[in-house]
Amino acid sequence: MARKAIFDTDPGQDDAVAILSALGSPEEIEVLGISVVAGNVPLHHTVANALKLVELAGRPDIPVHAGADRPFMRRLKTAEHVHGETGLNGPDLPAPTIAAAPRHGVDFIIETVRAHEAGTVSILALGPLTNVALAILKAPDIAARLEAIVLMGGAYFEVGNITPTAEFNIYVDPEAAKIVFAAGVPLTMLPLDVTHQMRATEARIEAFRAIGNRSGDAVAAMLSFSQGFDLQKYGWEGAPLHDPCVTAFLVRPELFEGRLINVEIETASELTRGMTVADYWGVTDRPKNAFFVRSGDAEGFYAFLAERIARLP
Ligand code: BDR
Ligand code: CA
Repeated sequence: MARKAIFDTDPGQDDAVAILSALGSPEEIEVLGISVVAGNVPLHHTVANALKLVELAGRPDIPVHAGADRPFMRRLKTAEHVHGETGLNGPDLPAPTIAAAPRHGVDFIIETVRAHEAGTVSILALGPLTNVALAILKAPDIAARLEAIVLMGGAYFEVGNITPTAEFNIYVDPEAAKIVFAAGVPLTMLPLDVTHQMRATEARIEAFRAIGNRSGDAVAAMLSFSQGFDLQKYGWEGAPLHDPCVTAFLVRPELFEGRLINVEIETASELTRGMTVADYWGVTDRPKNAFFVRSGDAEGFYAFLAERIARLP
């Protein structure tokens, strides 16, 4: 039976591939809706992008809800230098013909989790954790009702991508991340340690284009754009692809390896703000609160994504 899931997201080209590949996996993932957060770019762009994506996938029935437009206590930090001014630069997607649903994204999360049997809804979090934390603060009962939170965020061996010690999603709203990691929900994190292994080489981008459908063309155009900054930064043969690791982990967990450990979020220090302090070697007796995915099979990952994008229009 398909797992019921809410995407919480700040699209973003890599968020887009995560969502599209999930929509191409209806037997495994039932997407109940999308809550949108500010992150890669401001909220008005991330909402418009989410609407464009559900239309691209031929799924305008999936509700898109605008959520928080800024972190709890910090000024919003965006990443136009990676994703472009709209956050979805690359493909020439038409402006959305549908509108966002009226409810706030945080209320959508709460009401959706409460409306389904306990233990049957998961949150797939692809951006700063503001909406997810607000939902848990506003309705603490949902923590015990969630099946899981699977998120892209953090790093340990790979340390950081927006500062020397922090990954972007956690850095943007560390107070929110702290709440989510302490909520007692079964939590899996896909950190830079695994996403840096998933490099979109030219051949892998070409494989999306070779599918020959509009979704494959759009994915290829997105990745061709967003790789520019990272290729220069890392000097690798392909740019890392972050958020689709969440979808792939849900559908093909055997592609990944990790371990259950304690992870705490640094909120006090300005120097190491948003660092995910991961007790990978078990040197403390702090409670284990996160399944930390350290590595994955990149060939299997890209084959999975291409197969699922091929099922879309
Ligand atoms: C994360 O930050 C964003 O730029 C990406 O969409 C991804 O969610 C990677 O650090
Ligand atoms: Ca993202």
